Amino acid sequence: MATHVKPSIDAGHLASRFADVRALTLALAAPLSDADATVQSMEDASPAKWHLAHTAWFFETFVLRDHVAGYELFDADWPFLFNSYYEAEGERHSRARRGMITRPMLDQVRAYRHHVDDALIAALPNLDNRARDLVELGLHHEQQHQELLLMDIQHLFAQNPLEPALFDAAPAGLSEMPGPLDWIEGHVGEAEIGCDDAVGGSAFAFDCEGPRHKVYLNPHGLADRLITNGEWIEFIEAGGYANHEHWLMEGWAWVQENRIEAPEYWRKGEDGDWYRVGLAGRQPIDRAAPVCHISYYEAAAYADWTGFRLPTEAEWEVAAGDIDPDGGNQLDGAGDARTLPAPGSEGLKQMFGDVWEWSGSAYQPHPGFRSAEGAVGEYNGKFMVGQYVLKGACCATPRGHSRASYRNFFYPHMRWQFAGLRLARDL
Ligand SMILES: [Fe+2]
Repeated sequence: MATHVKPSIDAGHLASRFADVRALTLALAAPLSDADATVQSMEDASPAKWHLAHTAWFFETFVLRDHVAGYELFDADWPFLFNSYYEAEGERHSRARRGMITRPMLDQVRAYRHHVDDALIAALPNLDNRARDLVELGLHHEQQHQELLLMDIQHLFAQNPLEPALFDAAPAGLSEMPGPLDWIEGHVGEAEIGCDDAVGGSAFAFDCEGPRHKVYLNPHGLADRLITNGEWIEFIEAGGYANHEHWLMEGWAWVQENRIEAPEYWRKGEDGDWYRVGLAGRQPIDRAAPVCHISYYEAAAYADWTGFRLPTEAEWEVAAGDIDPDGGNQLDGAGDARTLPAPGSEGLKQMFGDVWEWSGSAYQPHPGFRSAEGAVGEYNGKFMVGQYVLKGACCATPRGHSRASYRNFFYPHMRWQFAGLRLARDL
């Protein structure tokens, strides 16, 4: 049980953030046709229409239904469609068949969102702290789905031989090659990681980020920047995908079964050069930009090839403690989807932006972790098996959503998320 009393969340501030977050989701989906928003390209990805409805379902279920007397569901049949994985909420539509939901149509889903928005804004001033905490949780949940929506649309569009673009191309450029890796020595000895604030308050954190606890760090260094596409091409050309030597056994099997020879979304043009497809359609590979859309298996193989390793979650989090989590290349609005390194600075660069960074740490409960009470306790804890932690933020992460204790997580073969790597070394 928490022993401190949290201040109440200001209703006006919460209402204004609610309006902003909900509007960004609609803006991200605005260029989509009903067909774009309905198709599901793989089981791990969801249709945009489903993201739009599911994020409304979250507020409707956990705030309006449970905390607002007299609220009537927009449609009593829809929770079956738009519950994601909450066993406590009962039976639900198959995740693999979300793309079959051609009805309701996109406009009806938008009407659902308006209905929920109006009811929630009207109810907000009278909600107690527990319900306001759930609104706060719902906003962070929706921001996670904004990134998922972009990931899933990118994956869907990449299946189309016409290589369509969702947004105009990012401004050309960058491309001054960064210098050789510089190593920044990390803290040695006892340190603390994790965040104690559960839901709510000005310092929001998901339950899996706590409790704050002690760790011990051995002498180590972190690379001052991310690994670039240019460096990844060297790995490819050195036979990185053709030689089992640097791969984990599972990773090598995955390479062979799936004939992996480059990051996701990389293709070879008629001229023999690599290009990539993305939210801006077909683009040349920018050698100076961080490599993106690699699996844990690939990150681990690359690290082994260089003779170094991936950072542990604790090494990364302690090093990030003094860095502004909102200062990197992150999502500021619709149409802003780039993967370019942040401007150079002294010390550790690109910690909160560009790409999520694979850590070498499994997604395990922090010592003393307990899931939140109620159905929302299913949010994180039940996924703590077989996955790895990714730290930081990426170019598709909405600005304001990040912090050092944040724990993103994916299975080691997954790579449709914006994931890259930073090396670490023992000293
Ligand atoms: Fe969700």
